[in-house]
Amino acid sequence: MILKSKDLLGLKDMSAEEIEYILDTAKTMKYVLTSNSKRTPHLQGKSIVTLFYENSTRTRLSFELASKYMSASSANINSSGSSVAKGESLIDTGKTIDMMGTDVIVIRHPQSGAPHLLAKHVKASVINAGDGMNEHPTQALLDMFTIREKKGTLKGLKVAIIGDIYHSRVARSNIWGLTKMGAEVSLAGPATLIPPKLEMTGVRVYSTVHEALMDADVVIALRMQLERQKKALFPSIREYSRFFGLDENRLRLAKKDVLIMHPGPVNRGVELSSAVADHDQSAINEQVTNGVAVRMALLYLLTRRGTNEAAD
Ligand code: CP
Repeated sequence: MILKSKDLLGLKDMSAEEIEYILDTAKTMKYVLTSNSKRTPHLQGKSIVTLFYENSTRTRLSFELASKYMSASSANINSSGSSVAKGESLIDTGKTIDMMGTDVIVIRHPQSGAPHLLAKHVKASVINAGDGMNEHPTQALLDMFTIREKKGTLKGLKVAIIGDIYHSRVARSNIWGLTKMGAEVSLAGPATLIPPKLEMTGVRVYSTVHEALMDADVVIALRMQLERQKKALFPSIREYSRFFGLDENRLRLAKKDVLIMHPGPVNRGVELSSAVADHDQSAINEQVTNGVAVRMALLYLLTRRGTNEAAD
């Protein structure tokens, strides 16, 4: 099997079979990652560039380490330390990177659709590492990988996503991915942070966190994205935490073995209490490890498209 597109721009247009294939490949990559010798020749001769117009710790570092573990050449460009700061356009920046023999460009950008625009103008594969309020597909893939690893399947699970749904590209990618894989998604957050017309097959929107959490197998708490809010959309952080923050009391509404997740970075005491973040059933640290495995799988699968091996 090969991935349909040269790029990974979002999960909206990806099939369940492709998602399954990426998750299966990531399982193999996790063996490599957790072995004593984290070095494979999978990307020998390949060149990976990360192009970040927004801050990141997890996503950027995991792509950089994934490239190194698989023997690729890798480089990083920040908007502040490059010719972007002199006014160079995204397309010109992308073409410049492309002309240096780059095989994959990993981009994070504040504008929704920026990776799609870049992908149209470069030969390299483009991976969306988060575009505005649109999608963060590699985060959703690592979230699904973590759930599948812990629960054995995604099909039939009830996954509650709590918080700032409106600004969350993580929520959007997870909604596309989880529903394609047969999970039922329950959403809750302040009314001002729930986008209109979100009800779709497999998705339920609740006004209280209690309803969304009831009998949940998995809960994903989202980061409050204050940097994307042009005006105050709820009275205060304290108020948000009171009505939507996850503490041990609220967690009792979910199934006993509920899996606790958060994409990071966590604002302790806002989205989650420290007791919940550090709970035995919290997979937050494992999500980080799985992020490297999933990104190794994606780099491998995208760079082997068009090779003889890919035709197997
Ligand atoms: N979850 C996530 O995208 O984290 P970073 O912003 O640190 O990459």
